[in-house]
Amino acid sequence: MNHPAVSQRLEAARDALARPLHDLRISVIDRCNFRCTYCMPEDQYALDHKFLAKDQRLRFEEIERIARAFACLGVRKLRLTGGEPLLRRDLPELVRQLARIPGIDDIALTTNGVLLPKLAQKLRDAGLQRLTVSLDSLDAATFRELSGGRGEVAEVLAGIDAAERAGFASIKINCVVLRGVNDHQATDLAERFRGTPHVVRFIEYMDVGTLNRWSAQNVVPSAELLARLHARWPLRPLDPNYRGEVAQRYAYADGAGEIGFISSVSQPFCGDCSRARLSADGRLYTCLFARAGFDLRGPLRDGAGDEELMRLIGGRWAQRSDRYSEQRAQLRAAGNGEKVEMYEIGG
Ligand code: GTP
Ligand code: 5AD
Ligand code: SF4
Ligand code: SF4
Repeated sequence: MNHPAVSQRLEAARDALARPLHDLRISVIDRCNFRCTYCMPEDQYALDHKFLAKDQRLRFEEIERIARAFACLGVRKLRLTGGEPLLRRDLPELVRQLARIPGIDDIALTTNGVLLPKLAQKLRDAGLQRLTVSLDSLDAATFRELSGGRGEVAEVLAGIDAAERAGFASIKINCVVLRGVNDHQATDLAERFRGTPHVVRFIEYMDVGTLNRWSAQNVVPSAELLARLHARWPLRPLDPNYRGEVAQRYAYADGAGEIGFISSVSQPFCGDCSRARLSADGRLYTCLFARAGFDLRGPLRDGAGDEELMRLIGGRWAQRSDRYSEQRAQLRAAGNGEKVEMYEIGG
């Protein structure tokens, strides 16, 4: 297929706050084999909750077409998410299709890790460049509790091993920190990956979605955790890898590697946010905390051409003024109840 628009765009689209469009996070499925208490707590999401049916989800060709349109508008990085993306059948085939898109120079994936022993090599061979694995605790009981009784820490560690063997040299390990639940285990997690090329990132617990009963009291500000870790192993700050990087990076002063902190509650980073999110049913969300998405599946299935898709996406991005984390207090006080769920757009 010929896509002349690809080479015509040199400047990334800009939103209403002049932020460029750089990253696209693609959720490939809204299902998950875990029920993390901070994302999809089993007792909260309705038992009659209907996950998307197969024909409601974008097909791979549709995802590819949308991703091409985004690439034409300036996107250089793709990240596949879920729910749990590895539950989507034939995912390596999608990676292969996305890796061919001109302009895309980075493809990553965020997973809970359990299915990596089966899929890591296939994903690598298909062109997946980087991997992030969620791992909140090394303690078996805490892990079980946080994953809603569905996950075993040993399975995730086996997944990380499999990914290493498949050639993922430096894996990011994401840990959501909840006060009184796993914060006292942060040093254990850091220690497990000290001296390896992998990078543990501690994420402040966020009020994503509507189900997790978030309270500011359960958030451990990164500064507090940083002080604790620094007292054990002196740390020095590192420059960001790129403008708008979500994590603040630190190196162990003794050369044993790197860790990071994602502090969207205590130090919001909306000013540089260049991320768009696509749900599995083809809606474009311009913020992790958005109320609603902008339907792209409808126009696509009604026959919209590439130029039309670009016009729709570019137009939506141009109107974007979201900066939820910077406005959290006011928006919460105003009772901004409706929000997309984390498992619909994958973080
Ligand atoms: P790279 O820097 O490319 O490796 O990716 P990343 O750190 O953006 O990816 P990852 O999915 O690992 O992001 C880590 C976590 O940070 C996500 O799961 C979210 O919890 C959080 N996060 C990522 N992007 C945003 C954002 O735009 N806003 C907020 N509030 N949180 C975000
Ligand atoms: N707060 C912070 N991070 C979260 N994640 C999921 N829910 C939350 C939340 N409420 C993280 C997961 C995973 C990524 C997809 O988002 O742990 O690393
Ligand atoms: Fe947990 Fe991720 Fe599944 Fe949510 S999508 S329940 S954070 S594993
Ligand atoms: Fe971007 Fe919204 Fe997160 Fe701010 S809160 S960094 S605008 S996704």
